[in-house]
Amino acid sequence: MAGNWKMYKTSGQTVEFIRTFAPPACEADVVICPPFTNLAAAVQAAAGTAIEIGAQDVFWLKEGAYTGEVSAPMLLAVGCRWVIIGHSERRQYFGETDETVLKKTVAALEEGLKPIVCVGERLEEREAGSTETVLAKQFLQGISPLTPEQFARIVIAYEPVWAIGTGKTATPEMAAAAHAFLRGQIGAHYGDAAAAACRILYGGSVKPDNVKGLMAQEEIDGALVGGASLDPASFAAIVAAC
Ligand code: PGA
Repeated sequence: MAGNWKMYKTSGQTVEFIRTFAPPACEADVVICPPFTNLAAAVQAAAGTAIEIGAQDVFWLKEGAYTGEVSAPMLLAVGCRWVIIGHSERRQYFGETDETVLKKTVAALEEGLKPIVCVGERLEEREAGSTETVLAKQFLQGISPLTPEQFARIVIAYEPVWAIGTGKTATPEMAAAAHAFLRGQIGAHYGDAAAAACRILYGGSVKPDNVKGLMAQEEIDGALVGGASLDPASFAAIVAAC
């Protein structure tokens, strides 16, 4: 159960959140991904709790003249364990492609970070009936070049772009169908055991009042939560659903 805070909260607000946030004890990994500037404070505040900290992006090289970028060794050094890669907002506004998603995923894995790799179709693609074509392409180009060993260490997040921040959630059945399709792609490429073992999160307007229906789907292994992860009580209620 991962919270993607996007460009919200200062480091002071991050520490405040972590002090207040009281998720129920559960078997799920509970991950919060604040902005880069808050990672050190978040790691410190979360020490001794079950909360793990992730970043929202990473660059694929270790160091160099790349103004504004942050590398995987830097994230590891600050105490990050996870990193979101290829979020649709990165694809839409910052030129992220399946090719850069792959490079970033490999770089994160090399440092032992756990990537949450995002895929998902845009509204016009769903309306044109090309959801599966889009997912297949994103999987083929952005994920399937990973070796089986690398693949075993990633988490996939299915986030239909039209459901992100819009209040429109995919119905549990729609989400499950997309997850099943992705699992089929994984199975064809990496085998049935890898497909069964892969954790696929759903993301897109997950809220305390719709998370139960989503999590009741066998295909859905967790959630990547944006807006509703910014409030400690709401995110705790979401984590409780798993
Ligand atoms: P949302 O965002 O929950 O605010 O729709 C999800 C995401 O972008 O990861």
